[in-house]
Amino acid sequence: MTPQERQIVDLTAKLLASIAAADWKAYAELCDESLTCFEPEGKGHLIEGLPFHKYYFDLGAAKSPPQNTIGSPHVRFLGENAAVISYTRLTQKLNAEGAPMTALAEETRVWEKKGAAWKHVHFHRSFPS
Ligand code: GLY
Repeated sequence: MTPQERQIVDLTAKLLASIAAADWKAYAELCDESLTCFEPEGKGHLIEGLPFHKYYFDLGAAKSPPQNTIGSPHVRFLGENAAVISYTRLTQKLNAEGAPMTALAEETRVWEKKGAAWKHVHFHRSFPS
């Protein structure tokens, strides 16, 4: 993995950590205000902007925060200022009975370099069928 690819993986790990910790400040700093996504919570609608995501952060962090693992990351650069990362996301968390479980999701995230900073501009998450 090149240092540039490593940077995109690390940024993505930081983003997932901010979600697990319900750290809205960290999440919003990594994202562009025009972030778009398709994710199961959107029920098939293209979600635009950050307010949809903030709802979940405002619920607060779980007593036992989940732990994310990025599996088999693949990074593709589209020129110097855009990168696409695809990976499987393993989320270890507690179920409703308090027992540990692992959820698996397939994610693709797009990063765009704006000035000196990489910003998260689009993602797509689905669950394997
Ligand atoms: N649901 C927010 C995110 O996955 O970025």
